[in-house]
Amino acid sequence: MTATAVVGLQWGDEAKGKIVDLLTSEHDIVVRYQGGNNAGHTVKFDGQTYKLSLLPAGILRDGITSVVATGVVINPKAFLAELDGIVSRRGPVAPERFKVSDRAHVIFPYHLAEEAVLENSRQAEKIGTTMRGIGTCYREKAGRTHAIRIGDLLYPDLLRSRLHEIVAFKNQMLAALAPEFQPFDADAIFAEYLTYTERLKPYICDTTAFLHHAIADKKRLLFEGAQGSLLDLDHGTFPYVTSSSSSGCGIHSGSGVPERTISRMIGIVKAYTTRVGGGPFPTELNNEIGQHIRDVGHEYGTVTGRPRRCGWFDSVAAGYGARISGIDCLAVMLLDVLSGLEELKVCEAYEIDGERTTDFPSHVERLAQVQPVYRTLPGWKCEISHIRKVADLPANARRYVDTIAELLNSRVEIISVGPDREQTILG
Ligand code: IMP
Repeated sequence: MTATAVVGLQWGDEAKGKIVDLLTSEHDIVVRYQGGNNAGHTVKFDGQTYKLSLLPAGILRDGITSVVATGVVINPKAFLAELDGIVSRRGPVAPERFKVSDRAHVIFPYHLAEEAVLENSRQAEKIGTTMRGIGTCYREKAGRTHAIRIGDLLYPDLLRSRLHEIVAFKNQMLAALAPEFQPFDADAIFAEYLTYTERLKPYICDTTAFLHHAIADKKRLLFEGAQGSLLDLDHGTFPYVTSSSSSGCGIHSGSGVPERTISRMIGIVKAYTTRVGGGPFPTELNNEIGQHIRDVGHEYGTVTGRPRRCGWFDSVAAGYGARISGIDCLAVMLLDVLSGLEELKVCEAYEIDGERTTDFPSHVERLAQVQPVYRTLPGWKCEISHIRKVADLPANARRYVDTIAELLNSRVEIISVGPDREQTILG
């Protein structure tokens, strides 16, 4: 049992990419199991910065096999553009070291059009999606009627007839909802996707069987989560979530690998909290401290460039994420961003209807009503990005990390004090 999983415990963007990259060399296979090109991972490797969205971080390393498993939704155009970017900088990617699930679902242009109509039609606060057709593709998967999987691309006659049926339906539906809508041409989409298929074909396979064989052969697996536990479709802050199982719960369903294979589940948290898009955020800082964190932490979306909402560390929210995902230890990221602040607050409980609780509300209306109960801690003035040992951290920084560990009832194994690989403290 030598599988490791890296899972975000907040609302995504916890800097999981850096940890995945750090751990990759200790593994044989890196598996992405949910989400799509809504995700953004920034990885610094060989002195260069790579922005990955759909491809697992393992793609940057020779000798590692990367798997895009069944639970992922794939926009082939975006996928190939990202692959081309890697190939131009690092050379060809052989099919032996890159596998794409034939069971994964395919994003088509009508999914993006449908998402725009749905988001704009919402009377309540917008979900604030990335507009990549993620939710509409997963909706198709659950609905089945109009779903197309990667494996279907290998049967051109089947694909053509499916597209004719689906596109006719989508054109009717979208024209009724959005008068300015320009109808899609099924033959044009078919021709476009055939060219993608030619390029994807060498990588397409039954990744579930591949992973089962790999486990039998004692290969070491690393599961790379996208987004975070609080964006999980079932367990997150619904409806302000993504459409996949983005907590640890998604590993089993998204890869076909049983959860008990995982011997080390690493929960990733930022030293503060961010979120992109709509929805309640109890510890949000709409003030100069929030702006300071945004500026110092470069808190702007990797995929959409949107400014991220910033706030204090929320142990009720992250603790809930940790319990859903079932973590063994923590990695605390971006601790250096908090350097220089006079004092820091950590939310240790919520107060609602005069009651104090550490349970995370199941309804967003209730989450919107909570009052965070803060523990105030002294800040540290000095730079910490050069520090490599826990003992060398300022006492107040150690106290801050210990507080997170205490409130999340876990131990901190990794502290990140900068974007580079070396800017890491192993606890
Ligand atoms: P969707 O995944 O594009 O459907 O967007 C749904 C919600 O998830 C929105 O609030 C997005 O901002 C958020 N989201 C999706 N992907 C990410 C991510 O990688 N990091 C942070 N938030 C994300």
